Amino acid sequence: MKKILITRRLLRSCEEKASKIFKANFNDNDELYSQNRVVEMSQGCDGILTSLTDKMDAETINKLPESVKIISNFAVGFGNIDLEAAKKRKIAVTNTPDVLTDATAEIGILLILGACRRASEGIESARQGGWKWSADYLIGKQLTGSRLGILGMGRIGQKIAKVAKSLGMIIHYHNRSKLNEDKEQGATYHDTLKGLLSVSDVLSICCPASKETIDMINKETIEYLPKGAIVTNVARGDIVDDEAMIDALERRKVYAVGLDVYKDEPNLNPGYLKHKSAFILPHLGSATKDTRTAMANLAIDNLDEFFKTGNCKNKVN
Ligand code: DGY
Repeated sequence: MKKILITRRLLRSCEEKASKIFKANFNDNDELYSQNRVVEMSQGCDGILTSLTDKMDAETINKLPESVKIISNFAVGFGNIDLEAAKKRKIAVTNTPDVLTDATAEIGILLILGACRRASEGIESARQGGWKWSADYLIGKQLTGSRLGILGMGRIGQKIAKVAKSLGMIIHYHNRSKLNEDKEQGATYHDTLKGLLSVSDVLSICCPASKETIDMINKETIEYLPKGAIVTNVARGDIVDDEAMIDALERRKVYAVGLDVYKDEPNLNPGYLKHKSAFILPHLGSATKDTRTAMANLAIDNLDEFFKTGNCKNKVN
C-alpha cells in the first residue's frame, strides 16, 4: 500500500475512502501545518494530498523526501504550489477541475448580486433594526442590461456567464484565446485586458493566479474600467492589488467589490472592512457537501491513478 500524507481534514466519507486505498496519515485536529511540518510529516510518504492553505513553495518542495512523487491538491487552483520547482524534482502536481465548477460559479453570482444590490449594508441594517423603507433606501445597481466582463472564460467563467445571461446581463470576456461559438454562447471576445475592462460595468475575475496574472488588476488597469464599476473576485486574491482597489473604492471609481478570495488568506486587507460597499465572504467558493466530497474523492483518485499508471489526467505540471 502506498503511503500518503493528508495535510488537512477531509469529510469523513472521503477519509474512509482514502484509508481503504492508502496507508494514510490524517490530520485529526485539522491543524494548519507549517511548511517545515509538512516536510517532516511527509518522510517515508509516496504522495501528499495538500489543500490551498499549504504553501508549497520552491524551498519547501526542495526539502521534500525523495520518496514523494506526487502532490495532489484539493482545489482547482494551484497557485499555492510552485509547479516549476515540483517539475524539477520530478514531482507530479494534480488538481480537481470540473467538480467544483457549479458551486464556485454560484458564489461568483452571489458576489455579483451582493455587490450590485448592496447586500452587506442591507444585512447590517436589517440586523441592527430601526431601518426605514423609502423610495431611495439602499438603491443599488440592477443586473439587467449591465455589461458583465469575465476575466478568464474557463469552466467557472462560462458557468457564471450562462447564469448572468439568464439574469439579463450582456456578456464580454477576455481569455488567452477566443472560444468556439458553442462555448461563447453569444459573449463578446476582447483580445486585450484593456478592451474587456473598458466595457465592464461589472467585472468577474475567474482566471487562475499565475506569474502572468498576479496584480493584473492594479492602479493602472483599474483606470480602464467605467466610472462606478463593480469588481468581483471568485478566483484568487493574488490577482488584485488591494491598495489600488481600496483607493478606487475611496474615490468611487469602483462602486463596490464582491470578494471571496484574498491575498494572504485569512488576513484580508483591513482597508476593505472600512467600506460598507465591500461584500466579502470567507473563501466559500466550493463549500457545499456534494462539491467538497467530489473534490476530495477526485484528489484521492488522482493519487491512485498516478500510482497505478505513472500519470494522471489532472496533472498540471
Ligand atoms: C479552488 O479549488 O481553487 C477553490 O478556490 C476552492 O474553494
